[in-house]
Amino acid sequence: MTETSLLDDDFSGEAKAKALEPTKVPERMRELIALIEKWDHEYYVLDAPSVPDAEYDRTFNELKALEALYPEWKNPASPTARVGGAVRSDLAKVTHAVSMLSIHTETDFSSEGAIAFDRRVRSELGLTDDDPVIQYDCELKFDGLAANLRYEKGVLVQAATRGDGQVGEDVTANVRTVRSIPLKLDGDVPDVLEVRGEVIMHREDFEALNRRQAELGQKLFVNPRNAAAGSLRQLDPTVTAKRSLRFYAYALGEVSGGAFAHTQTEVLNRLESLGFPVAKEHSAVMGPEALARFHDDIEALRPTLPFDIDGVVYKVDDLELQKRLGFIAREPRWACAHKYPPEEALTICEAIDIQVGRTGKLTPVARLKPVFVGGVTVSNATLHNEDHIAGLDLRVGDTVVVRRAGDVIPEVVRVLHERRPEGTEPFVMPSVCPVCGSATIRDEEEKDTRCTGGLVCPSQMKLSLVHFASRRAMGIDGLGEKIVNLLVDEGLVKSPADIFSLTHEVLIAPTNATVEGAKPIKRMGPKAASNLLANIAKAKETTFARFIFALGCRHVGEATALSLAQHFRTLDRLEAADEAALMQVDDVGEIIAQSIVAFFKEPHNRTVIEALIAAGVMWPAVEVLTEGATSLVAGKTFVLTGTLPTLSRDEAKDLLIAAGAKVSGSVSKKTDFVVAGTEAGSKLEKAQTLGIRILDEEALMAMLKPSAESFDTVATMPQETDRQEADSQREATQVKPQAPEQGSLF
Ligand code: IVH
Repeated sequence: MTETSLLDDDFSGEAKAKALEPTKVPERMRELIALIEKWDHEYYVLDAPSVPDAEYDRTFNELKALEALYPEWKNPASPTARVGGAVRSDLAKVTHAVSMLSIHTETDFSSEGAIAFDRRVRSELGLTDDDPVIQYDCELKFDGLAANLRYEKGVLVQAATRGDGQVGEDVTANVRTVRSIPLKLDGDVPDVLEVRGEVIMHREDFEALNRRQAELGQKLFVNPRNAAAGSLRQLDPTVTAKRSLRFYAYALGEVSGGAFAHTQTEVLNRLESLGFPVAKEHSAVMGPEALARFHDDIEALRPTLPFDIDGVVYKVDDLELQKRLGFIAREPRWACAHKYPPEEALTICEAIDIQVGRTGKLTPVARLKPVFVGGVTVSNATLHNEDHIAGLDLRVGDTVVVRRAGDVIPEVVRVLHERRPEGTEPFVMPSVCPVCGSATIRDEEEKDTRCTGGLVCPSQMKLSLVHFASRRAMGIDGLGEKIVNLLVDEGLVKSPADIFSLTHEVLIAPTNATVEGAKPIKRMGPKAASNLLANIAKAKETTFARFIFALGCRHVGEATALSLAQHFRTLDRLEAADEAALMQVDDVGEIIAQSIVAFFKEPHNRTVIEALIAAGVMWPAVEVLTEGATSLVAGKTFVLTGTLPTLSRDEAKDLLIAAGAKVSGSVSKKTDFVVAGTEAGSKLEKAQTLGIRILDEEALMAMLKPSAESFDTVATMPQETDRQEADSQREATQVKPQAPEQGSLF
């Protein structure tokens, strides 16, 4: 069996089929059939597939394409002749009263899939362009296991899996343990009512299950769908009962002795009112453009759903029209599935590199053979730390499953150990920093390995400076990674304070790196240098909170920096605070307190702070909420989305934080308000579905007003004593790179 087809970029498999030399066709067909049979067995019988769906689909499509091109070679027992599925021999068989069909799939990820479906439906119905548009019901395509629930006189009498579409497996006892499935239906229902839908597992429940399995030393499930399948197709229902399965209804099987509905929308509404869970993300729409829009909208929502979907389903809404359209082969003409790019794909881990972060943390990164996943080409994935690699049992050369959902950072979720090549070695974390050669130490509590080089390590130095200059810290526009790298590499900046003594002359001088014979390259153009210097000068006037945040003390994020500024109000008091005093501050626990104390204990850090003050960094008196004053927004969680008419997103955020609110990046049940501007996308939609209050800029400003009046000015800056001391100390202290204690940076 060759494995050559497994890692190419041809998604359909068709191009591959067309390119194959005719003499090789029979052999290739045999290979593909053997692969698919093996994968079918793993998937349907063992509930333990070894390849992601995209891989399976491509192989399957290649076989289908070969069979279409060379029908004379087609094996009558080819897996393409089956709807898919197999019946587990140890569960009782159930013959479906109405067979459970498959559905035509549009693999074109663009809107073309929706347009093509509408075109086919209209042509089947003999409609011309002048006829009215068709109404469709749009739904999610759940990625689970289809099931048929049979109710007689309103009582659940049997539940079966889809199996091969004609014959499924009896899972009645197991289904009875799924709490969201009604065992009895109240009210007026047909004598026989078969309800079809998907048994799935929410991602959260899947992760909890796998954690439990790991603790018990039992096999891990690959993804939520396989966990759902494995949990439903159990001989022992007490196992199923422990597995948090869910059911979402979307179709009917046999219905007799009473009418049920006239449209698919009505089917869903009636099912919902009978107590079946129906996903709320469905919608009745008119015409093909609206189908394409639904496809886009759900794609934006996809990462925020609690469960996996692999596409959407369009159905002609009118059940009479459905009947007229009928079936072709085993697929209805009135429905189609329109897919999304897969969120998982196979590739090879070609190397494991180490990145050194701002606080010295060594992060292993997998360098991957580029692969298309989650709609983008991925070539790196973070591996977090040593334990994570050990947990995956990953080695360079391994074939891995990569996952990327939405904007989430790509992750290696699994290693296919059966494909490990010869001669691989287990990964070991380096004992010296790959950037500066200093020793590394492992922080047992956090599982992290750190470089002990501190600012001696150019990597830490550069990232500290980039953080210092970043927008929400000192906000020095134009001092990004590229310039910082150059300034550090050229030896011009050894500490953040050095930024403030840069001159135009130095910035426009030729670089130290000279290529023999070539003209020397300037560090910067004169215009860019002037702009940068102006921005540096402007940044000297800052706020106390921004200054604290810019210092980059470990564990001190923006919110903590603000709390510290409000609580201590002056640098003197903050520097003097011990752990107990620090822990008085909101959100500051023991770890943060220890980190802050260690930071200020480090002489090098104090030197840098003094040098910064001496260079002219200053801030106005800290405004503090007077006691007893209440802000309408204090303690509330806000999400900002879209473009506001006058405020930038950062300005709105600053105002909210200053008034004691929390600002989060994503909408959840914990969100109190969403502030929406123009072109607000999925966050606004999610807020609407969750019933969260939505504000425009005006409403936000109105809410902020009372809190602005409750501010009181309590301290004044610049603090002369600090500055004078710093001036005298600057002369006495040479900034010398040294290895600071853990948690200190400058
Ligand atoms: S309706 C004749 N609706 O897709 C159409 N199916 O190939 C009957 N599926 O195995 C199915 N979400 O598990 C329908 N909203 C949805 C669906 C859905 C997922 C699955 C179902 C079936 C496959 C059809």
